[in-house]
Amino acid sequence: MTEKRRRRDRRIKPVKKAVFPVAGMGTRFLPATKALPKEMLPLVDKPVIQYVVEEAIASGIEEIIMITGRGKNAIENHFDRSIELEHLLLQRNQHEVLANIQEISNMVDFWYIRQKEPLGLGHAILKAKDLAGDDPFAVLLGDDVIQSDDKPGLRQLMDVYAKIGASVIALEEVPMDKISSYGVVDPEWTDGALCKIKGLVEKPAKQEAPSNLAVIGRYVLTPSIFDHLENVKPDSKGEIQLTTGLNALCAEEPVYGLRFTGKRYDTGNKMGFLVAMVEFALRRDDLGKEFRDFLKNLKP
Ligand code: UTP
Repeated sequence: MTEKRRRRDRRIKPVKKAVFPVAGMGTRFLPATKALPKEMLPLVDKPVIQYVVEEAIASGIEEIIMITGRGKNAIENHFDRSIELEHLLLQRNQHEVLANIQEISNMVDFWYIRQKEPLGLGHAILKAKDLAGDDPFAVLLGDDVIQSDDKPGLRQLMDVYAKIGASVIALEEVPMDKISSYGVVDPEWTDGALCKIKGLVEKPAKQEAPSNLAVIGRYVLTPSIFDHLENVKPDSKGEIQLTTGLNALCAEEPVYGLRFTGKRYDTGNKMGFLVAMVEFALRRDDLGKEFRDFLKNLKP
């Protein structure tokens, strides 16, 4: 290894912290989300957010910073201990269920910060500034679930970060008739699954979309993003957009996009949620066969 390379590698810090912005209002899922966070909706018997937390842990994350808001206490309770429940399960000799429940609360260190008003994704991430410090960090959106038989979705981004030491955003190719629902990247160049990002456009009209590569809810970001987010002006809805902060970051330092391998489910919209529920149920050893038979015999 050359001295220059050695020096560069020393500078690339490992990604150990992850920010989960979960303070959004979930209006697309009302009325279910009036009192229940959308991240707590279950896919079969596990809340959506637990799949995402498990992906973060499987990727090597050691600390999770949740940005929560009004009505999101259920998330905090879910990852906390429940002494009464544990006691009851012990009394009933339900040891396997008990171990499962205890595992949830022992998963990783959690920190909770309140976003008092839902002023946008960029604003939510900015709340993590003090806890994230000078380290690179991951961002995972709690309603995007990634199923990957290969490496966990976030790990794929972290591996790119470990090599190049620059921000990496997860991308997915989407059909052009759906492109206007996404943040879309303008690639400077593409090399296989990796591209260098020149800029991003939030929810472009189909004819103005710079590519068919949409940003999905996984990022590894350098701490410079905080300086940019601090300077982002609120948009017409009063929100601080992450996309605006990322555009400023692209202008200052290299930002890459990665088409990850695996399937992503957007459980924050009804159709995405239904698809995820059916596919996760079909994959289960204990339910899959019976559920498949049920679906086959379902009368229209
Ligand atoms: P979304 O726009 O997908 O989520 O925000 P939402 O606002 O909860 O849902 P809808 O559109 O009203 O149905 C993307 C992510 O950013 C978080 C959300 O929780 C979600 O994970 N977010 C959004 C915040 O944490 N704070 C905000 O002010 C806005």
